[in-house]
Amino acid sequence: MKQADIKGKWALVTGASRGIGRQVSLGLADYGCNVILHSRDLAHTGLLAAALSAKGVEVRQISAELGEPDQVETMLTQLLNEGPNVDILYNNAAIQIGYREDWLNVPTEEIRKSFEVNCTALIRICHRLIPGMIQRGWGRVINVTSGVKDQPQLIAYAVSKAAVDKFVLDTAEHLKDKGVLMNLMDPGWLRTDLGGSNAPGSVESVLPGALVPVLIDDGTVAKLFHAQDWAGKEI
Ligand SMILES: NC(=O)c1ccc[n+]([C@@H]2O[C@H](COP(=O)([O-])OP(=O)(O)OC[C@H]3O[C@@H](n4cnc5c(N)ncnc54)[C@H](OP(=O)(O)O)[C@@H]3O)[C@@H](O)[C@H]2O)c1
Repeated sequence: MKQADIKGKWALVTGASRGIGRQVSLGLADYGCNVILHSRDLAHTGLLAAALSAKGVEVRQISAELGEPDQVETMLTQLLNEGPNVDILYNNAAIQIGYREDWLNVPTEEIRKSFEVNCTALIRICHRLIPGMIQRGWGRVINVTSGVKDQPQLIAYAVSKAAVDKFVLDTAEHLKDKGVLMNLMDPGWLRTDLGGSNAPGSVESVLPGALVPVLIDDGTVAKLFHAQDWAGKEI
């Protein structure tokens, strides 16, 4: 695969403190990419920041509760005013609020919150950071989706991810000729706080596949990348 050189570029990884976002951040740093680590509290990314610095890359930490539009806005304004410029946006953070056996009684609030964190905030972050990528003529946007299906017990989560898929399908083609490649990444079912302990895959197996939509340099857009296709392989 012809790979983009991401050494010295800046990536924003949302939900970087644990699980898949943590792996993606470590993987990016191994390519010499500087990383902005997002979580809800700066304390959550302190140890990871030190680990990435030890790899010789630059690191910043930012925080925002993605379910609070004001916090998302404040975080983005601070980032746009103070830098660094974001070249790679890895929208990874998400919530999955429980498993509803009584799935015909999902509270409206659960659907609203899932959309706010998993989809609305993601779109807002894209819309604020992509103009800078267009201006600089280069960008990568990876939106993390899910293969969840046929589980009405997880419907709030599932429909919020389906909306992310639709956002990418309708947006990506319009960015392609501007040097910005937007794609989707499905990590597979992995043992994380969100995935639970019964998941078949280790969180480490998300690498190196999760980095493929970052490293592509062939104009691919609106594609769903399955990280597990590269598990145990080299890219
Ligand atoms: N694990 C799986 O099997 C699986 C399967 C398919 C798709 N995915 C997707 O992969 C992505 C990462 O999942 P994961 O399993 O790594 O999740 P995780 O282990 O639960 O980690 C979630 C991350 O998101 C952040 N986060 C959670 N709620 C937030 C909120 N309200 N506002 C801001 N940040 C918030 C957390 O930061 P804090 O430190 O602040 O809590 C944490 O860094 C998600 O998009 C998920 O839908 C996962």
